[in-house]
Amino acid sequence: MTSWLVNQQPGNLTPDRAGPGGTVVVMNLPSDGSPSSVRVGLLGCGHVGAALVALVAERRPEIARRRALDLEVVRIAVRNTAIDRDVPVSGDSFTTDAASVVSDPDVDVIVEVMGGIEPARELVSTALAAGKPVVTANKDLLANHGAELYALAEANGVDLLFEAAVAGAIPIMRPLRESLAGEPINRVMGIVNGTTNFILSRMAADGASYVDALVEAQNLGYAESDPTADVEGYDAGAKVAVIATVAFGAMVVAGDVYHEGISGITQADIELAADLQHCIKLLAVAERTVADDGEPQIGVRVHPTLVPLDHPLASVNGSFNAVFVESAAAGDLMLYGRGAGGRPTASAVLGDLIDASANMARGHGATIGTLEQVRIAPIDDVVSAFYLNIEVDDRPGVLASVATVFGEHGVSIRSMEQEGLGGEARLVFITHGARERDLRATLDELRSLEAVRAVGSVLRVIGD
Ligand code: HSE
Repeated sequence: MTSWLVNQQPGNLTPDRAGPGGTVVVMNLPSDGSPSSVRVGLLGCGHVGAALVALVAERRPEIARRRALDLEVVRIAVRNTAIDRDVPVSGDSFTTDAASVVSDPDVDVIVEVMGGIEPARELVSTALAAGKPVVTANKDLLANHGAELYALAEANGVDLLFEAAVAGAIPIMRPLRESLAGEPINRVMGIVNGTTNFILSRMAADGASYVDALVEAQNLGYAESDPTADVEGYDAGAKVAVIATVAFGAMVVAGDVYHEGISGITQADIELAADLQHCIKLLAVAERTVADDGEPQIGVRVHPTLVPLDHPLASVNGSFNAVFVESAAAGDLMLYGRGAGGRPTASAVLGDLIDASANMARGHGATIGTLEQVRIAPIDDVVSAFYLNIEVDDRPGVLASVATVFGEHGVSIRSMEQEGLGGEARLVFITHGARERDLRATLDELRSLEAVRAVGSVLRVIGD
């Protein structure tokens, strides 16, 4: 049980520790109507941290007026204090000793934007155990250790808020956790990686090759010099693990997510998709399904996907992100915006900071609810529609033999187009929903047919 004591004397929000089983927060509410002072300890001062310090300074008077909270960043932990960060705080606020920021009695709330798993996990755990609310933008931390951290926050009656960890400025965590708390959510599909969306958009709009579009993304600062985390879907995978946890109340970790990246997508794939009135997007998908034995399961995966041009996700271009939620009573929803960048991400952190501070002042916290252990669907069991193209000899009976292979594996063809290539032909298929294992068996057998010259890209399609 958490209990709260309210001390009506001017002062600060001061968390205090109770014995096992509860945290007592003594909140010194100013009795004169002046805003409560909230002293923020910041872990990390890169693009997001520096933008947060600037935003807090800019918005401080209005936040004090409208929310009765006087936010001030008082301590900042960085790796190197010698760097000039040009942020509006005094130089002696910086330290390389992050643990001292967490344990500082003059720090009420911790903001963690340092990234990575350790020491972030240790620092966040210590703060929560000490009854200090934490705001984090760290998707990797939550996608690997979320369950233990949410439980720690709950046990100590403090907030652990993380809107900025998924899709930057786009409000998606709070809608999933609060606004849609009464909704059975069936599926969430997100474009949650701006770098890959920029690359695919460039390939579609300008006919750029994958490599040229990647180099442009690197020159613009979207892609890292080692782009693996973005282009192979690991960044999106961590985000979809967090989305699935919140949307379904289930323990989902990054290691549960199936990944395919975009590095194999060619200009020919983009053009063939366009001919079929589709575009290609790297989608992060979290969905509820039912296993063959009737047990509920959750599918979590990241892969390039053909999206019909009339689907709302098809209009999300450049480095923008969007999250599309399919729910029972509310129907379909899409949230769209900036998924990365210093100020957009810092805006989401600031929203959480205000919320965590206000909750602390009122003596309650946000909850993620009970997390259940739910089976993760093996990729072989996942049902998707597929696009595939194969090059075959152009002679009588070939199409029939190819179609027979699909039928023998229970894969139903939704559409087929043929394009002549001299003595050969390209057959482009879109299937109805098929299990991955059946599609894979179909491909194996197609490859063994004498008339099949090559099997090109195989991509999933948003459809039935
Ligand atoms: N690298 C990510 C992106 C942003 O391109 O969207 C941080 O998760």
